[in-house]
Amino acid sequence: MDDVGTETETVPTAGTEKGSMQSLAIFSGKPAFAEKLHVGRPNIGDRVQLLERFNNILDTKWLSNMGPYEREFEHRITETIGAKHCIAMCNATVALEIAIRALDLTGEVLVPSFTFVATAHALQWQQITPVFCDIDPETHCLDPRSVEAMITPRTSGIIGVHLWGHSCNIEELTRIAARNNLRLLFDAAHAFGCSQRGRMIGNFGDAEVFSFHATKFFNTFEGGAVVTNNDELARKIRLMKNFGFADYDKVIYIGTNGKMNEVSAAMGLASLDSLEEFVVANRRNYNQYRMELRDLPGVRLFAYDDSEKCNYQYIVVEIDEAVTGISRDDLIKVLWAENVVARRYFFPGCHRMEPYRSYYPHAGLMLPATEELVAKVLILPTGTSVSESEVEQVCRIIKLALSNAVEVRRQLSDHSASGTTVS
Ligand SMILES: Cc1ncc(COP(=O)(O)O)c(C=O)c1O
Repeated sequence: MDDVGTETETVPTAGTEKGSMQSLAIFSGKPAFAEKLHVGRPNIGDRVQLLERFNNILDTKWLSNMGPYEREFEHRITETIGAKHCIAMCNATVALEIAIRALDLTGEVLVPSFTFVATAHALQWQQITPVFCDIDPETHCLDPRSVEAMITPRTSGIIGVHLWGHSCNIEELTRIAARNNLRLLFDAAHAFGCSQRGRMIGNFGDAEVFSFHATKFFNTFEGGAVVTNNDELARKIRLMKNFGFADYDKVIYIGTNGKMNEVSAAMGLASLDSLEEFVVANRRNYNQYRMELRDLPGVRLFAYDDSEKCNYQYIVVEIDEAVTGISRDDLIKVLWAENVVARRYFFPGCHRMEPYRSYYPHAGLMLPATEELVAKVLILPTGTSVSESEVEQVCRIIKLALSNAVEVRRQLSDHSASGTTVS
C-alpha cells in the first residue's frame, strides 16, 4: 500500500473548473465530464491489423473450431509467459470450470471471498463447496494462515486469486498444498503480463486461468485460457473444451464447449501486439493517481511493485471513513454525479451473495479482513482511453469532496431525505 499522508491537502482553485465546493455537481455545479468515464473501458489494439484479420476470417470462412488464429493466439501466449501449454477458451469462467474438473477437485475447495463471484460459482456449479478464506489486508489476496485453518478431510484443493495482478503468496500456498496433498489452481483473471519474483504468472501451481474479458488488461471481447506446464493436464483440458473429441468421430471423454472463436482470437492477437502501449498508458495513469492522492489522509492507493512486471490495470483505492469523514459510498455518489463511474469491487464479498449467503450465514465471522475491505475499496477509471488531465480532474473531485466532508455528507443526506437521486 502507499503510505497515508498526514498533511492537509490544498485544493486547487484558481482557473480550474472544479475549484470550490459549490462547483461539485452534488451541489449546483455542472458535471466534470460530459460523458460517463467508466472503469474497465476496453483497451483496443491496432485497428487496421484487426480488420485485416476479420476480413481473412470471412474470406476463409473458418469461424471457429481450432482455427489458425486461435492456434496462433495460444502460441503467442505461451511465448509471452514462457509456459508450455495454453488452451484458449470462450471465457475464464468456463476455463475455471474445466480446470477444476480436469484436476478432479471434489468436496471442498478453499477460495477467497474477496474475488469476482465466478471463482466461487465455478466450483458450486459442479457441486463442489467453495470454502471462503480471509485475505491479507496488505495484498488483498488469500491469507495462507486462514487457508490452513480451513482445511478439513473433505478439502481437495486451493484456488488462489492474483487480485489486481498482484500475485498471491505463491510460496506459502504451494507449501500448504504439498503438505496436505491438495491441488493448487490460480485464478489469474487479472494477472496477464505480471510476474512474481521475475517469473511470469501462468507458470505456478497445477494450472492458472486468465480472463480476456472486455474489461481486462487485454481482451478478446470475451475469452479466457488455461495455462499449465503439465502435459497430461493440458491434454485432458484440450479434450474437455471440445466435447471430448479426440478425432472427427471419436469422443473419449466427457466434455463441454469451451472453444474460442476466430474473431476473438484475432482480437487477442491485435491486443498482444499492443500490450506495451497498454502498459505505458496504465502505468502513466497509476503514477499520476499516486502523485495526486499521496498526501490525502485516509486514502490509500494499492501500490504495485515496480520491481515486478505489472499491467497496472486497476486503480484501487481504500477509503478509511474514520479519517476522511466521508464514506466510500458517499464518495461514489459524488463521483457519479460528475459522470465518473467509480466502482465498488467484489462488494459485499462472495460469502454475502446467493447462494452462499443462505448456505453459510455466519461465514463473515471467519473473514474479518474481507468484511473490512469490502466497505473501503473503490476502483477508479484508467486505461488507454483515460488521459492524464482526466485523472487530474477525478483526483480534484476527490480532494474537493474530502476537504468539504461535512457539507458533502449533509448535502447527500438531504438528497436522500427528500428522495432525490444524486447520480
Ligand atoms: C477474479 C476473476 N475471476 C474470474 C473472472 C471471470 O472471467 P470471465 O468474465 O472471462 O468469465 C473474472 C472476471 O470478470 C474475475 O475478475
